[in-house]
Amino acid sequence: MSDKVKCPIAGGYSAIESKRIGGAIGTPPMNADWWPGKLPIELLHSQSPAANPLGDDFDYPAAFASLNIEEVKKDILELLTSSQDFWPSDYGNYGPQMVRMAWHSAGSYRVFDGRGGSAQGLQRFAPLYSWEDNGNIDKSIRLLQPIKLKYGENISWADLIMLTGNLALEQMGFKTYGFGAGRIDYWEADDASYWGPETVMATQDKRWVGEPGSDDYDLENPLAASRQSLIYVHPEGPFGNMDPLSSAQEIRITFGRMGMNDEETVALIAGGHAFGKSHGASPKSALGPEPSGAPIENQALGWLNSNGTGKAQYTTTNGIEGAWTSHPTRWDHEYLKNLFAFEWEQTESVAGGKSWRPKKWSRI
Ligand code: HEM
Repeated sequence: MSDKVKCPIAGGYSAIESKRIGGAIGTPPMNADWWPGKLPIELLHSQSPAANPLGDDFDYPAAFASLNIEEVKKDILELLTSSQDFWPSDYGNYGPQMVRMAWHSAGSYRVFDGRGGSAQGLQRFAPLYSWEDNGNIDKSIRLLQPIKLKYGENISWADLIMLTGNLALEQMGFKTYGFGAGRIDYWEADDASYWGPETVMATQDKRWVGEPGSDDYDLENPLAASRQSLIYVHPEGPFGNMDPLSSAQEIRITFGRMGMNDEETVALIAGGHAFGKSHGASPKSALGPEPSGAPIENQALGWLNSNGTGKAQYTTTNGIEGAWTSHPTRWDHEYLKNLFAFEWEQTESVAGGKSWRPKKWSRI
């Protein structure tokens, strides 16, 4: 294609013209590029009613009430125990990956400014959709798409994501408090939220003061994640150092900033990992770009994996490999039992993810 061909949406700049004048490919420099310190008053009209695809008079509570919710639940439960070619389920059950999806949707919440969380369905927009920590959650959302299309505006993405997580827990034997609906979707990315000072994804070098392990180790306000593009903490430990005590300190700080006390934090982490597995079966170099950085033909799918089939037993998400329990689709306390029953040593996956494995496969 000639570089003189102009994009009608981006303002008609060719790649070469755009590079010459310093803007991102295909976009001219905007006011904020010329004057980075300008007052961002556009934040006051983010989610403008003029852009609302559902119209001013759309009444979500009434739309949700019109659903046959038992039929919605039946469709979700059928999906959970199926397996589809484009993204086969582990152990024949999508439950664990749907629990992770729901948790990551809720877990971006932070108490200091009340931003993040599951309420607006922001997980389907950048940056969250393309965060390393949300790797392959694009597949979970894509699996739900036929159900979303079937019920349309009567169920928001935000409610569908949380209802699916809830049903997955129940289907795997966990007793929930039930489900409360009422999350109204944003229809565009939330550009008003601040996710940290680092300009490189998956780094954490600018948001902390003090040294891990010291009393003054603390996180910049209003952040609640230890690293750019994470929901909570680096699974390999603070700054990638596998020091359990500093990890515990970071977990207390970050989960505290999500509104959790120690007891709730332990219940969440040990409970969540009663299910599913971690994925690190292919080298990270086999992974393509995240959804927002991927070419248009991969729209809404990212991290395409060129190793083997690129899915199922070849899946790499964050890079650590293995399950936490011997039956990852059933609720129980084996995560905690295993933690205390074995002695643990460090190991590394094919993808280079550092984790712990039992020293001997017999309990102490
Ligand atoms: C310290 C906090 C946590 C850390 C470091 C952590 C880390 C991880 C990692 C590394 C994975 C593997 C992801 C993949 O490769 O696909 C994972 C998976 C998972 N996490 Fe967590 N997690 C945390 C908290 C939680 C919480 C609070 C929940 C739920 C309440 C949860 C639920 C899950 C589930 C269900 C999976 C399995 C996903 C699957 O099988 O596809 N996690 N977690």
